[in-house]
Amino acid sequence: MTAITEFQMRKDNLEETREITWAAPPLKEGEVLAKIDRFAFTANNVTYGVVGERIGYWKFFPVDDDDWGIIPVWGFADIVKSKCPEVPIGERLYGYWPMATHLVLAPGRVKDARLFDGAAHRAELPPVYNSYARVKAEQGYDSSMDDDRMVLFPLYATSFCLYDFFNDNDWFGALQVIIPSASSKTAIGTAYAIKNDDASPALVGLTSSRNKAAVEALGLYDQVLTYDQIAKVDAGRPAVIIDMSGNGDVLGALHKHLGDNMKYTSNVGVTHYDANAMGPDFIRERSAMFFAPGHIQKRTTDWGPGEFEKRAFAFWHEAATKSRDWLTIKRESGGDAVAHAFHEVLAGKTPADTAWVVGF
Ligand SMILES: NC(=O)c1ccc[n+]([C@@H]2O[C@H](COP(=O)([O-])OP(=O)(O)OC[C@H]3O[C@@H](n4cnc5c(N)ncnc54)[C@H](OP(=O)(O)O)[C@@H]3O)[C@@H](O)[C@H]2O)c1
Repeated sequence: MTAITEFQMRKDNLEETREITWAAPPLKEGEVLAKIDRFAFTANNVTYGVVGERIGYWKFFPVDDDDWGIIPVWGFADIVKSKCPEVPIGERLYGYWPMATHLVLAPGRVKDARLFDGAAHRAELPPVYNSYARVKAEQGYDSSMDDDRMVLFPLYATSFCLYDFFNDNDWFGALQVIIPSASSKTAIGTAYAIKNDDASPALVGLTSSRNKAAVEALGLYDQVLTYDQIAKVDAGRPAVIIDMSGNGDVLGALHKHLGDNMKYTSNVGVTHYDANAMGPDFIRERSAMFFAPGHIQKRTTDWGPGEFEKRAFAFWHEAATKSRDWLTIKRESGGDAVAHAFHEVLAGKTPADTAWVVGF
């Protein structure tokens, strides 16, 4: 019998959390038990909780009491029990896990370097989240980049998608790209992608005053402004907005200031989750939500199986290597560490140049 410990939070009040331990029943034929080694925690994971009901993030790792849920995280796990001959004890997987010690998977579509969790309750959820990399079979797998991968791969893969989407749309005719919450890692990854391409528009980062110096030090944005300096954005140049903040006041003020020159806004994130109400100045008809798994599915159809992963991995690897110049990864372990990282990130107390990697 294996004891499984989970870190749960109330769906309607993420600040209320608890640790629950229960005894897992014996594995059924075809199942494996993954022991979760460690995982990253950033604002992206908080967003999974904030939009959990709307987008369905609570459905990945459901708990018995419907008022409570488990936020998904990206990390590594090792197979410690197996009733699936294709996935033996000792396998190491990278992918989407609950904030917990273990997860029972029902591997399906097992290929050399990848498998899917075939659990019935995940069948309707976006495939990108149900796919696990069998890292020991990956060409050139480098375990010294495990922590960078947990923190940055899901974020920089989104950055790669954003660059690809806007480039494919000729930047909607814009001469400048404005990125609110410019200090977030997803924003920084997007800035790396845009800077890699001399033909892309100029880059304006919007951030809070406490993060301005750190954002300037990256040297990626042509202009860095704080949220109270929106009037300094050049309203005479057509612009697109790639928004990580979800801040209704910031977006309303930007849209009003830019007017017809606001060509398109991608609503990517909600790092400012407590300020998410959009006011009358927000231009809905030229704004749309951006959902990376949807873009990945589209590119998988366009480019063929495996090609998105290949291109996104190459982008992530190069950008993650550069990110070592500024990123500090804080590593802690134990149930208290998991709770500590969760509450620090939820409260916005983690510095922009820092990320957590934790495990039970
Ligand atoms: N749509 C998609 O498919 C997709 C995919 C990946 C990520 N995303 C989204 O992109 C966003 C960024 O994620 P990330 O993991 O890259 O973030 P991160 O690096 O953890 O972001 C940290 C930054 O977010 C702002 N922030 C965080 N918590 C805050 C709080 N409580 N109050 C005020 N500001 C706070 C601050 O930036 P400033 O001071 O600069 O505002 C902070 O420096 C998330 O909302 C995530 O869900 C969306």
